[in-house]
This record gives sequence, structure tokens and C-alpha cells, in this order.
Amino acid sequence: MINPVYAPAPDRYERGIRYRRCGRSGILLPEISLGFWHNFGDVNPLANSLEMAHFAFDHGIVHFDLANNYGPSYGSAEETFGQIMKKSFIPFRDELFISSKAGYDMWPGPYGEWGSRKYLMASLDQSLKRMNLDYVDLFYSHRFDPKTPLEETMQALVDIVRAGKALYAGISNYPPEAAAFAYKYLKDRDVPCLIYQGRYNMLNREPETSGLLDQAKENGVGFIAFSPLAQGLLTGRYLEGIPSDSRIAKERFLKSSVLTPEMHAKLVKLNDIAARRGQTLAEMALAWCLKDDRVTSVIIGASRVSQIEDDFKALENISFAPEELLEIDRIISCS
Ligand SMILES: NC(=O)c1ccc[n+]([C@@H]2O[C@H](COP(=O)([O-])OP(=O)(O)OC[C@H]3O[C@@H](n4cnc5c(N)ncnc54)[C@H](OP(=O)(O)O)[C@@H]3O)[C@@H](O)[C@H]2O)c1
Repeated sequence: MINPVYAPAPDRYERGIRYRRCGRSGILLPEISLGFWHNFGDVNPLANSLEMAHFAFDHGIVHFDLANNYGPSYGSAEETFGQIMKKSFIPFRDELFISSKAGYDMWPGPYGEWGSRKYLMASLDQSLKRMNLDYVDLFYSHRFDPKTPLEETMQALVDIVRAGKALYAGISNYPPEAAAFAYKYLKDRDVPCLIYQGRYNMLNREPETSGLLDQAKENGVGFIAFSPLAQGLLTGRYLEGIPSDSRIAKERFLKSSVLTPEMHAKLVKLNDIAARRGQTLAEMALAWCLKDDRVTSVIIGASRVSQIEDDFKALENISFAPEELLEIDRIISCS
């Protein structure tokens, strides 16, 4: 049977999604965004990737986050997204906010990683081809490169935006001093940094303690949290062992060594609080990030539609009583 043509849900903006303004910019981002780091590569069935992308868009999740080397194999998550564009999303391009990045290892040799102008420019051209796009909405320097002059990396972002290959520029995984330099450099050239992308979740408070969250806000820059579920730890996934199809079972980016008896005990206690709130642990973990108005959006990952469906329900309750927050902090800080 021929594939049916995709028709998005007509009520996709009325199913509970909310949008937050991204820093001092004209851009609104959905409180939940979908990332393609895992489960969208060429090792994964296209049908499942399509189903997840459709479900997201059908619920007003209009921001999709990619990077050159997402897969596996490297580049293949962008190729998958390119197929999704062709099959489903081309008529809706202007409703979508698509990001990509370059910074980590992508191709061999001296020009295939870090922050040189040569790498960033070539990488974005490749990404656009793979994704069947004329431009991305947002292009990130994926990590700070201590050896390349930051002026060179930032000027590449400025020139990429001026060339119309990206509408906005962003940075990810930059330490606060480098972020301060980047914000000023970009602002002085009328290409203000739209957003900072950093790891932030109940278990990892680094953006609070390092001042990155405040710094972004003070500079009119949005903050988007990646791995808000700590790659799946902050969900029900590992409460009763390690499922064979889970990220930990793959032992690559999330190792079984993190799931110590102490960590498991914390997850069980956090799950109890979530249950009292009438939420799953995943819903509570996302709500916890979104309670803070310095956070523009959380980028979730997913391996199946039912997870996105669960995660989406987080939006039904993102407020916490002060005692709940204290209890969460106590559980997390006890070793
Ligand atoms: N800038 C950077 O350096 C950087 C780094 C990392 C990530 N990111 C971005 O952030 C995105 C998200 O990262 P992440 O995948 O680590 O995010 P995450 O949301 O913390 O973890 C996603 C994983 O959690 C599990 N999960 C999600 N919802 C669930 C639910 N309701 N119930 C049970 N399990 C659930 C799934 O694990 P299973 O796969 O085991 O089912 C899923 O793959 C990436 O795709 C990427 O776009 C950026």
C-alpha cells in the first residue's frame, strides 16, 4: 500500500502546548522541543522516526534539534530529518524551527571538529544538504574550542547568518567566560546570540551554580535545557532494572555504572514524590526544569511515541510547593 500523505492535526496548537519567548528576541519556542541525538539514525526504523516527528508536530512541538554527528552513523539523523521533510514537513516549513550544530568530531583530519571557520562553514553546508533545507533557523557552535581564537568561531556564526544559511546563532557547552565574550561579540555585530544550550536537570544543577542561567537572562539570551531527563535516568525506565532496548543497555553514552544502588534509591524516592503529584517521574523531571522562567524550553529525547506522549503531559502541572522542592533537593544531595 502506498504511504498516506501526512496531514497534521488541525488542532495542533490547542492541545496544551505553550510557547515561551526566547531571551530578548522575536522567537517563541515550545516549552518542549524534540531532539534527534539518539533513535533517529540509520540504525533505527524510519517508520518510528516519522511517527515520533508527526506526533510532536501534531502537538505543537515545532522545534526540532539536530547536530551534524547525530546518528549513528554520523550525519544520519539529519538524513532521517531530510526524509521526514520530504515526506511530510515541506508544506509546513515556516511552522518549524530547526536547529543544527557543529563542534564535535564529524569527519577525519584537522578540519572535521572544533571551532574553525573552515569546519563550521563546511559542516553547515553538509547539514543543509542532508536535511533538504535551504537554511536552518538556528545554528550553534556545539562546544567551546580553547585553541581557536573565539573571534574566528563567532565571526563564522555572524557570516553564516549574514549569508542566510541560518536565521539565528547559538552556543552550547561554553563556560561562562567564553559565553560572555560570545554574547558581546555577536551583539556588537547585530547578530545577537539567540540561545544557550546546556545540560540541565534535577541531577545536574551546573547551569545554576556556574551562573550560566543568570548570565543568559541578563544578556537577553534564551536557555534551552538538553538531557532534561538525564538521558532517561529521571524516568520510570530504570526503576526495575535495565531494559534491553534502553540507552544504558547500549553502554555508550549512558553507562550502567551510573545506576548504583544509591542512585536507584534516589530515583525510587523521586518517583514517590512524582506519584503524589499525580505525575510520572519523567513528567515531574520536565516540570522541574520548566518551573524556572529562565528556561525557555527543554529538549527531550525519545525512542517511541508513548514517551513523547508521557513527556507532553508534564505541561499540565509545572508548579511545585516549596516543601516539594526542598524534599527533592534533600533526596538528590544525600549520598
Ligand atoms: N548540546 C549538546 O551538547 C547536547 C548533548 C546532549 C543532548 N542534546 C540535545 O538534547 C536532546 C535530548 O537529549 P537526551 O536524549 O539525552 O534527553 P533526555 O530527554 O534526558 O533523555 C531521553 C531518553 O529518556 C528516555 N525517555 C524519554 N521519555 C521517557 C518517558 N516518558 N518514560 C521513560 N523513558 C523516557 C528515552 O530513553 P530510551 O532511549 O532508553 O528509551 C529517551 O531516549 C538530544 O536529542 C539533543 O538534541 C544536546
